[in-house]
Amino acid sequence: MTTTTATAAIEVAGLRKSYGRLAAVDGISFEVGRGEIFGMVGPNGAGKTTTIECLEGLRGADGGTIRVLGLEPRADGAELRERIGVQLQQSALPDDIKVWEALDLFASYYRKAVPWPPLLERLGIAGKRNARFEKLSGGMKQRLFIALALVNDPELVFLDELTTGLDPHARRSMWDLVRGIRDRGKTVFLTTHFMEEAEQLCDRVLVMDRGRVVAMDSPANLVRGLGAETTLLFVADRDFDPAPLASLPGVTRVEKNGERYRVSGTGERLICLVVNALDEAGVRFRDVHTERPDLEDVFLALTRDSRAQGGEG
Ligand SMILES: Nc1ncnc2c1ncn2[C@@H]1O[C@H](COP(=O)(O)OP(=O)(O)OP(=O)(O)O)[C@@H](O)[C@H]1O
Ligand SMILES: [Mg+2]
Repeated sequence: MTTTTATAAIEVAGLRKSYGRLAAVDGISFEVGRGEIFGMVGPNGAGKTTTIECLEGLRGADGGTIRVLGLEPRADGAELRERIGVQLQQSALPDDIKVWEALDLFASYYRKAVPWPPLLERLGIAGKRNARFEKLSGGMKQRLFIALALVNDPELVFLDELTTGLDPHARRSMWDLVRGIRDRGKTVFLTTHFMEEAEQLCDRVLVMDRGRVVAMDSPANLVRGLGAETTLLFVADRDFDPAPLASLPGVTRVEKNGERYRVSGTGERLICLVVNALDEAGVRFRDVHTERPDLEDVFLALTRDSRAQGGEG
């Protein structure tokens, strides 16, 4: 971590929050730099929403310190609310409120609000401005909540389960939208259950499990840290003995199953070395593909115990 206090959007040290005897957040510390897209991932019940609610000032912490944009969320709540945007995981609006009325209402809460029609355009719901909330599809409601979170042009926006319920097109346009927020110099704090989303979008990811931080780094470093193997799979056009491939640097395992071959190992040059060796041996191959570790593998490896216990810790 190189973030300094002067540039940090969020500073958390030793944060704790219990519900009765359950330590939902059990002493976590991290910083989020200004202009970062920071993601928090973890199994159901890991404590993500509880953490976010403490950062937003919606929930009082039991211990630790929190600074958000230099402010203390509970004591400086009124000022903080002007400067942050909040998309709640479980949001609700009156059924009969119209989309434009909701935006006008939320805009009226702030000293400074942006004109919201362009926001609706960007979120692809401009055509729904006169629709009643109850008539919106799940994904449309989600987009509306994101529009509401952005209506005060916040310096820092919290998006709890950004794209849950969105179709693949809407998900990708949401990624563009989030990158656009970051590119305008704002900070984004999000949670997601889609590891591909975290990998594509986040500058850094915090993996949380049972109230604790189990890892925090860039997606690429997290994947690298797993030290997991890459596998090259292919079909050869003739039978050959793959045993010599096992002596290539980085190769750990070679398997043959009929005309199908699997070569596993580590190292940046693994695939290049295997392909060159096949070429030199005069083996022609097809149906080549690779299996590479990704953030989902990191998540599964680091939170394995939670799965064994059914998710809740
Ligand atoms: N208001 C509450 N009262 C009592 N327990 C709660 C309350 N809110 C959350 N919990 C418990 O605290 C733990 C953490 O919940 P939290 O909602 O923070 O998890 P999460 O990581 O956001 O999970 P999800 O991925 O399912 O949204 C869970 O065990 C949950 O049951
Ligand atoms: Mg949650």
